[in-house]
Amino acid sequence: KKQVKVGLLGLGTVGGGVYKTLLKNRLTILERTGCAVEVVNVLVRDREKERGFAIDEKMLSLSEQELLGDEQIDIYIEVIGGIHPAKKIIETALNSKRHVITANKELMAKHGAELLRLARQNGVHLLFEASVAGGIPVIHMLQGYLTANRVHEISGILNGTSNYILTEMAKTGRSFPEVLAEAQQLGYAEADPTSDVEGYDAAYKLAILTNLAYDACVDVEGIDRQGISAVTGPDLLLAERMGYAVKLIGHAQDQDGAVQLSVRPRLLPAAHPLSRVNDVFNAVTLRADVVGDLTLIGRGAGEFPTASAVIEDLTALLTQGEKIRRPNWERPLAAAAEAQQAGS
Ligand code: NAP
Ligand code: HSE
Repeated sequence: KKQVKVGLLGLGTVGGGVYKTLLKNRLTILERTGCAVEVVNVLVRDREKERGFAIDEKMLSLSEQELLGDEQIDIYIEVIGGIHPAKKIIETALNSKRHVITANKELMAKHGAELLRLARQNGVHLLFEASVAGGIPVIHMLQGYLTANRVHEISGILNGTSNYILTEMAKTGRSFPEVLAEAQQLGYAEADPTSDVEGYDAAYKLAILTNLAYDACVDVEGIDRQGISAVTGPDLLLAERMGYAVKLIGHAQDQDGAVQLSVRPRLLPAAHPLSRVNDVFNAVTLRADVVGDLTLIGRGAGEFPTASAVIEDLTALLTQGEKIRRPNWERPLAAAAEAQQAGS
């Protein structure tokens, strides 16, 4: 059996789920990968914080530098979030020729192209399944399965917090702030929930999926975006009486050699499959030229669904290693869309 040592950056909702799952399912992982995986060093902001589970305090790193200088570590998992200090940390880890797994959609949407280039130059992998749609394996689907297909439309519910808020407001008539506070309590929301309710988080995820579908790079700031903060209880009731549900939908579609991207609240008829995707669930439909429509549904946020995605990246590294296809996001999206149209 091979020993694999992990450095965990962040021990909040997702990091805690990863830590607990690697302990709980270590024998299953060992049986299926041949590797004994062990978290050996953990970076947090506050070493004194009560975490609700036992962790040997010797495992808590004294500093970023100490963790990044730990020679025994084979793989880093970044679940801090945001751009700073996550970007610098990931760059340092990749430059030290360690694989990195991240759940950070903002970082991947804004700086994914350069980080993936750095991983390639160093001969290591940067994996990010947990950055989109929590436990749904949509990145594995795009990167590892739909290799011979050209995806020309992506649509879905990509933010668990806003779907939870819309569902609860419609179902119980409770207020927006009350349900948002509950989503934060449940560990669904971002550190700054503006990202969830104003559609930034869904736009980051839509950009990542589009980048993978086109092997290109979306300008995330240019996405037509509107969140759910202006949607009221009476709006939801009226929609329901008329036979509709309101859902925050991320949508990307090829049109005449260009790709249009948007994130907006939309009215979906009750018969539409996405209108029944409720609570923290996300759904993604990929429309591709060979397979047709594929829809994946699952929990889009929360401790264990997200930990599952992180750990399945880890097991993919252990079982497939070099065979994992490396995304290349160097081309601007417009050039990729034109090339796709010319080739069709
Ligand atoms: P979180 O609960 O706020 O946890 C963040 C962790 O990072 C905490 O342990 C915190 O330390 C640590 N941290 C923050 N700033 C730090 C710094 N400057 N130096 C060292 N450690 C620092 O966040 P989360 O919900 O787990 O999310 C983490 C990442 O996963 C984000 O990129 C998020 O977008 C992504 N994600 C989250 C979910 C979800 O459902 N929550 C789902 C998919 C993806 P302390 O514990 O000491 O404060
Ligand atoms: N805040 C995000 C959401 C976490 O609610 O969907 C999952 O990416």
